[in-house]
Amino acid sequence: MRVAIFGTGYVGLVTGTCLAEVGHDVVCVDIDQSKVDGLQRGIIPIYEPGLEPMVKANHASGRLAFTTDAAQAIAHGEVIFIAVGTPPDEDGSADLQYVLAVARTIGRHLARPTVVVNKSTVPVGTADKVRTAIAEELAARGQENAFDVVSNPEFLKEGDAVADCMRPDRIVIGASSAHAVTVLRRLYAPFNRNRDRVVEMDVRSAELTKYAANAMLATKISFMNEIANIAERVGADIEQVRQGIGSDPRIGWHFIYPGAGYGGSCFPKDVQALARTAAQHGHQPQLLNAVEAVNAAQKGHLFELIQRHYDRGEDEGVRGKTFAVWGLAFKPNTDDMREAPSRRVLAQLWEAGAKVQVFDPEAMAEARRIFGEREDLVFCDSAFAALHDADALVVITEWKQFRSPDFARMREALGDAVVFDGRNLYDPAEIEAAGLAYYGIGRGR
Ligand code: UGA
Repeated sequence: MRVAIFGTGYVGLVTGTCLAEVGHDVVCVDIDQSKVDGLQRGIIPIYEPGLEPMVKANHASGRLAFTTDAAQAIAHGEVIFIAVGTPPDEDGSADLQYVLAVARTIGRHLARPTVVVNKSTVPVGTADKVRTAIAEELAARGQENAFDVVSNPEFLKEGDAVADCMRPDRIVIGASSAHAVTVLRRLYAPFNRNRDRVVEMDVRSAELTKYAANAMLATKISFMNEIANIAERVGADIEQVRQGIGSDPRIGWHFIYPGAGYGGSCFPKDVQALARTAAQHGHQPQLLNAVEAVNAAQKGHLFELIQRHYDRGEDEGVRGKTFAVWGLAFKPNTDDMREAPSRRVLAQLWEAGAKVQVFDPEAMAEARRIFGEREDLVFCDSAFAALHDADALVVITEWKQFRSPDFARMREALGDAVVFDGRNLYDPAEIEAAGLAYYGIGRGR
């Protein structure tokens, strides 16, 4: 099938590439000329495992094209995806200007029946706005083309996006016409071979499904962070508690890891946007507000542990100390630092007069872009280089390569021999046996 995709961010680029991979003929459109030029030359603007070779192969085969020419893409697409950003407004609502701008562009150029598919995460009711925007532009040209607007939310995880896209656990299709469902079923047939993964529903339910999924996962995390904070105070170890509850299939093992708080471009934004939608419709979302508040507090928790440790000492506390920081990305296998807990921890350390020596396997360039050059920030080439001349270690992202360090070497390097483990990567007994003081999340033994 001929597919056009507006937006070459995570969602658009991964979706377009996977659709090309299974044989569709895909044109990706972006307004950013330099991004499009780069993609044509095989330069991928994001780090996503497996994506680069797939983009290059499909581009070389001619099934995946990149352009800034919206009219050409609209003429090409039997199915037209909207996969542009929906950043939060000042009040936490999703900002729809990019989605609606694409809708108007589609309306200005559409010359035959098509199915418009919204993949961006948008508040309930947005499909209706997209439909109106397209219809208005068509009417302004005296046209009356038939078109459908479908909600088809994406469930890609950064770092696993290609795998999630190639092997989806479900394909949600929210449509108001049988024709649109038939078209999307044809489009997704290659992903559906072993079993039917399509869940058909009405448009508004599909829009809400996306928020419900992310809000549920964020709720699990905030819940575990809350229990971790209780564990810390009552002298229990959250890691043992986690093992004790995860085996109940009704609870499950996923998303019950306490830590430095959830970040990224989805959970913080989506929980706030859903809370906002609820309030706008007259419902006070007490649970969602609490999920958000717990997370905001949790992002400051590592620093609290650091401060508590140093305030016990005779000297000036954290001021003048040097902290090695392992992990800057909001989670492993990505270079994305949007809403990353590391940003809060660094800001708090700097505010308290400390210096940091940072290392992240992928996010160093992004960190340089965000923080620039500053005297209290040293970019290091390796995890162990960051320990050199440092007083303490703070682990913020659970990259695999941080999991089994040489604790004896770490002990020698760290002036104050203390580790703050924001992801509970280490066994407290093992690390303490090496002569290091240990602080984890929710480990009050
Ligand atoms: C999330 C969802 O997992 C995807 O299903 C969804 O499609 C995506 O948002 C989206 O809406 O686009 P993502 O933001 O890439 O994906 O990352 P996650 O793996 O969900 O992690 C989010 C945050 O939660 C990270 O900061 C992670 O460290 C944290 N987390 C996750 C925990 O603190 N504990 C856990 O147990 C799991």
